[in-house]
Amino acid sequence: MATGLPDSTARPRFLMCRPQYYAVSYSINPWMDPQSWAAEGSDLGEAAHREWAALHAALLDKGATIECVDPKPDLPDLVFTANAAIVLDGKALLSRFRHPERKSEEPVFADALQAQAGLDVVETLPGDMIQEGAGDCIWDAHRGQFWMGCGPRSDRAAANVVADYFAVECVALELADPSFYHLDTAFCALPTGDVIYYPQAFSTAARGAIEERVAPTQRIALERGEASQFSANAVSFEHCLVLSSCTDTLRARIEERGFTVLATPLHAFLKSGGSACCLTLRLDHRSEG
Ligand code: ARG
Repeated sequence: MATGLPDSTARPRFLMCRPQYYAVSYSINPWMDPQSWAAEGSDLGEAAHREWAALHAALLDKGATIECVDPKPDLPDLVFTANAAIVLDGKALLSRFRHPERKSEEPVFADALQAQAGLDVVETLPGDMIQEGAGDCIWDAHRGQFWMGCGPRSDRAAANVVADYFAVECVALELADPSFYHLDTAFCALPTGDVIYYPQAFSTAARGAIEERVAPTQRIALERGEASQFSANAVSFEHCLVLSSCTDTLRARIEERGFTVLATPLHAFLKSGGSACCLTLRLDHRSEG
């Protein structure tokens, strides 16, 4: 059956970080409540270990290769490796974080991208420009371009730097709802050209930019309830979409486009405003083919 999916035989490669020191100990987005995390004691920490291991196993089972960054005490959000850098064609543009709570992750990710991932070039952003990595800058393999979230975390000006550095188009999308503060919380570009997104997360101009480039039949718009389960925060490769949870309706809409949907619960990470996509960084995206 022709599905319109690219015929890729290469094994996808990811960077992840075990949740040894993962916790919600500060609040830098509306999902994070350190008091309620502390009140639930060790249960959430144990759930995080179980859920992360299940995601890791599911990706391996689907044929992925996974490199791991060593966890570090006092860096609870290091598990969200999607925020390490933007990676394309073996090159990495390192992130600069907005909040002081995450700044010490920058050198840890820089080391990991060079030592573990073996990326050729690791660049930094000019001046004090903020850009929070692939979590806020999504590679669209079908269109051969990046989509970059801006406003709550990344600076709009970073889109030009990304476009110059990787020599591809980078479309900046302004995020308008504090609960959807990184682009990957509300947007997922599938290799078929279909896009899963939560329209209300975007400014009117950003919604217009999406609708200009993505045909109506390619748009899978989420309701708020679906977006709040972080169903857009999905990892897609080959014929598979891995996410924490989704409604039956959404599953059917994705399956009819030739994908299988693998739901592996990641509720302990939602407490920090993250899910499947945030916990992974794709290392092998290529601009050609
Ligand atoms: N607590 C982290 C933060 O607020 C969650 C990051 C989630 N990562 C992502 N790519 N959306 O920065």
